[in-house]
Amino acid sequence: MKKVLVHILLILQNVWPGSTTFSELNNSDPKFSGPINNVTVPVGRDALLTCIVHDLVSYKVAWLRVDTQTILSIQNHVITKNHRIGISHTEHRIWQLRIRDVHESDRGWYMCQINTDPMKSQMGYLDVVVPPDIVDYQTSQDVVRASGQNVTLTCTATGVPLPTITWRREENTPMPMLLPAMSEDDNDNELQPKEIYSVESQNLTLWQLQRGHMGAYLCIASNGVPPTVSKRIMLVVNFAPTIWTRYDTIYVGVGQKLTLECITESQPASINFWLKNKELLQGGSYDSLIVGHVHRIVMRITLRPLTKHDFGEYKCIAKNALGETERSITLHHKAKKHVQHSHQTSSRDNQFIVIEGYKDSYNQESIPIHNSQFLCPHNGIKNISTNRIYQVYM
Ligand SMILES: *[C@@H]1O[C@H](CO)[C@@H](O)[C@H](O)[C@H]1NC(C)=O
Ligand SMILES: *[C@@H]1O[C@H](CO)[C@@H](O)[C@H](O)[C@H]1NC(C)=O
Ligand SMILES: *[C@@H]1O[C@H](CO)[C@@H](O)[C@H](O)[C@H]1NC(C)=O
Ligand SMILES: *[C@@H]1O[C@H](CO)[C@@H](O)[C@H](O)[C@H]1NC(C)=O
Ligand SMILES: *[C@@H]1O[C@H](CO)[C@@H](O)[C@H](O)[C@H]1NC(C)=O
Repeated sequence: MKKVLVHILLILQNVWPGSTTFSELNNSDPKFSGPINNVTVPVGRDALLTCIVHDLVSYKVAWLRVDTQTILSIQNHVITKNHRIGISHTEHRIWQLRIRDVHESDRGWYMCQINTDPMKSQMGYLDVVVPPDIVDYQTSQDVVRASGQNVTLTCTATGVPLPTITWRREENTPMPMLLPAMSEDDNDNELQPKEIYSVESQNLTLWQLQRGHMGAYLCIASNGVPPTVSKRIMLVVNFAPTIWTRYDTIYVGVGQKLTLECITESQPASINFWLKNKELLQGGSYDSLIVGHVHRIVMRITLRPLTKHDFGEYKCIAKNALGETERSITLHHKAKKHVQHSHQTSSRDNQFIVIEGYKDSYNQESIPIHNSQFLCPHNGIKNISTNRIYQVYM
């Protein structure tokens, strides 16, 4: 460094405009009033480096770029061809080097010199910070995976200082994660489910994907220089259909109308249909909606069993690329003699006995029941008494 400075000084003395003789300069002893404060500036802004001297009299102040050995200014003349550099002073005391539209290449040491013999100098550091930026081509795009698979989402960001990357879910819900158990056993490969809200890492690995992993993930890059940036990555987990039905056994009389209902959920959407003795049933309704990226289909079919063949096992089936799932609902004939009480409770909550006309055996009054349809209620859609079996005289 010393060598460099001497070298700069020599250059400086050669280019020093309007050289003054030593006798003129000798009367004063200029000094720095304080150090040059280090400056930190985001790229694109202006930087101001300040050198304060006293007793300068006819000595001169120069600014130099240390690492490139460049003279930037002498007194109020800009020497460098860099048009972004400017110089200003207040009463020959406060010398300010202004760098407009700071580039990353401006980062480094700057020197303020007084041309005494020996020369006096001091240095200040200009730090240039850069807000974070996500490198799109080195960052995961939206992904689709089958359930059971693993996925690693990766996020790369630039910036100075290097940004930290944080992963979280868009709705700020926890990420079901499998993490190594913290036990002291040798079994250190064992993974345990944990609910994690955020992960600070370039890569986010999710093992054994389940449908609960589905959703938007945010990769957030921050380094203290605003603005913080994020990228949204959608994770879709494909899974075979699941089927839910409220009742798997239903007692019904001949000619009574009832509606069977199954609710399926899948990703991608499933094809749904009803079977009776391996035969496809026509009709029925299939209402589909998307609930949190999951395809839900409510399938209903209305029946009025008239003959023996209309009783028996009905199957609701849902099929997609990942598999096929079915549930059975068995329709039993409800014989009159079979029935004893107007209603009775039972611990079995998956049976239902359809009531159409209801005759109380004691007061002989006919009570119409809401409607002749029987709807399997879905969780949260309808909530009816679960552990009762209604039986009636017909
Ligand atoms: C210049 O100053 C030096 C010490 O700073 C002194 O020795 C010398 O005599 C001075 N010369 C003149 C011409 O004043
Ligand atoms: C400027 O920063 C350097 C290190 O980067 C440090 O040694 C020096 O003391 C700082 N100067 C001031 C005035 O803070
Ligand atoms: C998921 O990762 C675990 C642990 O690294 C590995 O044992 C398993 O085979 C992976 N599963 C798939 C489907 O790649
Ligand atoms: C993240 O994954 C990429 C490849 O997918 C790899 O190059 C990089 O080293 C990983 N980063 C860390 C911190 O493990
Ligand atoms: C359904 O019924 C149960 C038990 O009676 C009750 O705890 C629950 O809050 C009900 N749910 C709704 C959505 O009404």
